[in-house]
Amino acid sequence: MSLFGFHMGQRFGWEENLKPFLEKPLPGKLDWTLTLGSVLALLFAVEAVTGMILAMYYNPSPEHAYQSIHYIMNDVFLGKILRGIHHWGAGAMVVLVVIHLLTTFFYGAYKAPREFTWIVGVFLLVITLGFGFTGYLLPWDQKAYWATVVGTSVASDVPLVGKLITRLLRGGAEVSGLTLTRFYAVHMLIFPALMAVFIVIHIYLVRVHDIAGHWLDEHARQAKTARFYPDQIFKSAIAFLIIFTGITLMAVFIDPPLEQIAMTPDPAYIPRPDWYFMWLYKMLTFFSGQMEIVGTLAIPIGGMMILLLLPFLNKSLLRSPYDRPLAIAIGVACVVGIVYTSLMGMADSKPYGRIVAVPDRPLTRVEVSGIKSWVEKDCAYCHNVQGQGGRRGQGPDLANVIAKQRSKDWIMASIRDPLSVSRWNIMPKYDNTEEELQVLSAYIRSLDFARYGLKTIPREAVLQDKIQ
Ligand code: HEC
Repeated sequence: MSLFGFHMGQRFGWEENLKPFLEKPLPGKLDWTLTLGSVLALLFAVEAVTGMILAMYYNPSPEHAYQSIHYIMNDVFLGKILRGIHHWGAGAMVVLVVIHLLTTFFYGAYKAPREFTWIVGVFLLVITLGFGFTGYLLPWDQKAYWATVVGTSVASDVPLVGKLITRLLRGGAEVSGLTLTRFYAVHMLIFPALMAVFIVIHIYLVRVHDIAGHWLDEHARQAKTARFYPDQIFKSAIAFLIIFTGITLMAVFIDPPLEQIAMTPDPAYIPRPDWYFMWLYKMLTFFSGQMEIVGTLAIPIGGMMILLLLPFLNKSLLRSPYDRPLAIAIGVACVVGIVYTSLMGMADSKPYGRIVAVPDRPLTRVEVSGIKSWVEKDCAYCHNVQGQGGRRGQGPDLANVIAKQRSKDWIMASIRDPLSVSRWNIMPKYDNTEEELQVLSAYIRSLDFARYGLKTIPREAVLQDKIQ
């Protein structure tokens, strides 16, 4: 091809380099899981482009960060969708990196000679999670702030240098404006650079060793009836388009969360991380005191080491899952464990106590005092009322008290001294005055929803005496 009198093919090394690169023969039977790598690379490009545009409006300072997100969401042309794509795209990347890792594991594709492709891949997983962790401080809302406080304090469990690492991450003793600029720089400059380098190495290694493909397809692998261009590129493009359409639809219909601005005083606020760190977060609660370090460091770092060293732990070249029952069993156990722990974490990190369920009828003065007392004492920490307002799982739903025909005295007794009604009770014994007992039990006895129906009032309205 000739352009402006230059022989372009020759100038860009078409025959020697580009053409062989593009038209590289590949095994004919490539299943869809083998497009995951290319889809991920393309998603990274999407994150990069949306990130660059977001950076034009974003201001990484505690005074302005939150407002600038508001501005992006409400005033910038298509800003909401832009942030949505960046947010949901990041989530999709985490999901797909994990699926990519799992298929590689279950296909036995990490085995020799592809050990280093795998290791670079594990680094890519870590960087992807790092992007998530640094990215979600940036909106400077409550969640951002608390997740970072908890996340950075985890490092202080490292023996000897822990406190120093935490200081280094935060840029000081506390999470502050310095943490924000630090995370912003890492998120915008350091991680993208690292990611790009590792992606290039990863792709290069995949090229050197060929696609591992399906474990059964030794035949098809030898046959090489397909080509990178057009076959593989076409298939990857379709996969990417489907996923990108999904992300865009999510961006159009679901706003990425933005809570209240960081450091809003709110005793009922439960700090909780994004869903993909939920299992780690929940695991912290399994270990306390001296054992805390097991949850914060031993398991995450140990797990990471095992992932990195996986290709060297067992030198067998058998790839089919049927020949590797132990490895597959361990893999499945880890997946089930992580999913289960995540679900547990999500169930008890729901916000609670934001609303109070009351009967849909005019309330008496005593009942109103009871509702106020209920809110102030945070009874919703353990009790739902008709499935509403409470945290799950600790105490019984109090909407059943009427159906159970509990007497007023019984209710008062069970609040006055919970152990007097049940020996296994974990309900705390409050220092209630006789009047508080009266009003609390009046509220609880009003919960006759079968008769009156239900309405809910927000916590704020209760605290500001604005019921009805
Ligand atoms: C730490 C968790 C916890 C908190 C906080 C808590 N409760 Fe309970 N509560 C329980 C548990 C658990 C039971 C079930 C006891 C049993 O029967 O073994 C219970 C039972 C009750 C019952 C008896 C219900 C029934 O039908 O068996 C009442 C009434 C009650 N709580 C009221 C309150 C009130 C009012 C508050 C706030 C002042 C409160 N609880 C705060 C855990 C809690």
